[in-house]
Amino acid sequence: MYRSQRLALKYLAAAIGFFGVMTLAGLMSAYYYINPDFLFGILHFNIAKTLHIDTLVIWLLMGFMGAIYWFLPEELGIETVGIRAAEIMFYLFCLVVLAVAAIFVVVQYGGSDNAGMWLVNQGRKYVEAPRWAAACIVLVMLVFSYNLIGTAIRARKITGIMGVLIVDLVPLVVLYLDAFPAFRNMSVDLFWWWWLVHLWVEATWEVLIGCIMALALMSLLGTSRRIVETWLYIEVALVLGTGILGLGHHYFWIGTPQYWLAIGGFFSAFEPLPLLGMVVHAIYDAGTHHMKTSNRPAFYWMLAEAFGNFIGGGVWGFMITLPQVNLYAHGTQWTASHGHFAFWGAYACGVISVAYLVLQRIRGAASVDGTAWRWAFAALNFGLIGMVGTLLVSGFAQAFIERAVGGSTLEAFINAQESAWFVDGMYARFACGLIFAAGYVALVYDLLTIGRRVPARAAQPALP
Ligand code: HEM
Ligand code: HEM
Ligand SMILES: [Fe+2]
Repeated sequence: MYRSQRLALKYLAAAIGFFGVMTLAGLMSAYYYINPDFLFGILHFNIAKTLHIDTLVIWLLMGFMGAIYWFLPEELGIETVGIRAAEIMFYLFCLVVLAVAAIFVVVQYGGSDNAGMWLVNQGRKYVEAPRWAAACIVLVMLVFSYNLIGTAIRARKITGIMGVLIVDLVPLVVLYLDAFPAFRNMSVDLFWWWWLVHLWVEATWEVLIGCIMALALMSLLGTSRRIVETWLYIEVALVLGTGILGLGHHYFWIGTPQYWLAIGGFFSAFEPLPLLGMVVHAIYDAGTHHMKTSNRPAFYWMLAEAFGNFIGGGVWGFMITLPQVNLYAHGTQWTASHGHFAFWGAYACGVISVAYLVLQRIRGAASVDGTAWRWAFAALNFGLIGMVGTLLVSGFAQAFIERAVGGSTLEAFINAQESAWFVDGMYARFACGLIFAAGYVALVYDLLTIGRRVPARAAQPALP
């Protein structure tokens, strides 16, 4: 095994660990909605929610990096260049995340002056980390880029997938730098912040997960490189073609010029197309290979990724993307319903798939099949889809009662928050969150014991 692959294992383990922190913080955030006195004066809702969504971004990023450190030496046939630096960066990354989480909990409010921005919190949703931490993360990403490009140069070889991956590194890092400046004008600030959030999840990350799933398909099903790379090029062209100007669907109500209504509505309406392409691709490959694989969990999670990406991102996103609908849906639990479904489908399922793929190879288990992964798969997906459904009910209540009927007054806002539809949706979401959390426990149990259970049975003394 390459050193790069041992590092991959560390990254994947850290990813699954932070996935647990994210789940706990999510459950807490959901509980405030049904009991607003929860941890009153000790931990504010906004801090729990920040922990929830920041660890979400971090664990997915760590999962992607783990996947790439795993596939890179196999793809290019040599050890990753600069692996020592990469190993140091892993520990730096973990330390920074833990330190930032501790700072958030210790300093829960304060001014938005320069010192606060550098040391405590930058206040931008999803990327709240203070500037010193953001600088460390940039360093981690730069070393990661050096690993990829350096390895390609030393191997004197570049495959189609690697080419796409390397080009994708540029926007990946450059867009993150967006988390630094501080504009005094709220509209300008939001304008650039969306470049990071939208162009990461609906462009750069889609390309990244497209590359990772392409590598996983070849590894899982033995799909030919020619087929996988052809699809990848088509998907990337479509993602960039629809996603870049699709950015406009966040510019409807933040003070940008009116033409964004047309641009955002038009281009983002086509955004489901590349995601549909990814589903067709996965089914096509699975069909060609008669769904035959020795790694069922990885395969099922990969199919969940393809469908989840299309339905959660494409269909749920499409629902709220036309300005005529977004006027009512904007910033409600309807948005949260889409956010959960899309992040889960597009990215979380992909990382879990790679974790199974890697574990099968490391533990040398002939088969990773069993019952535990089925329980985990069922509870996580059932819990998540349950949350998506219940959030939709609460979101509809807000769009209808607060916006359409009430005309967005303060009184209408309160009416919506107190309506039975909204409140019941919040209770049911918490219940589904508990099922999801149980699924997480089953997942961790399965990942820890896979391949270790089988040899135990084989070790039983044979009857004479
Ligand atoms: C136990 C499971 C989970 C629970 C109980 C939960 C709960 C919550 C809550 C209460 C919020 C705050 C919403 C608000 O401000 O009103 C939130 C936000 C969010 N969560 Fe979760 N969550 C869970 C799992 C997940 C998972 C698995 C993902 C993605 C893979 C995720 C992604 C997000 C995102 C993207 C947001 C921000 C959405 C927005 O503000 O529109 N969550 N979650
Ligand atoms: C699969 C990738 C995607 C992910 C991970 C994702 C995630 C998210 C998240 C987390 C938000 C909430 C942002 C916030 O306010 O904090 C959001 C908002 C939004 N998404 Fe997506 N999304 C994806 C794809 C799409 C697609 C393909 C469309 C359109 C077809 C779309 C349309 C929208 C719209 C219109 C909003 C704004 C909702 C509002 O005004 O409150 N998304 N998305
Ligand atoms: Fe977007």
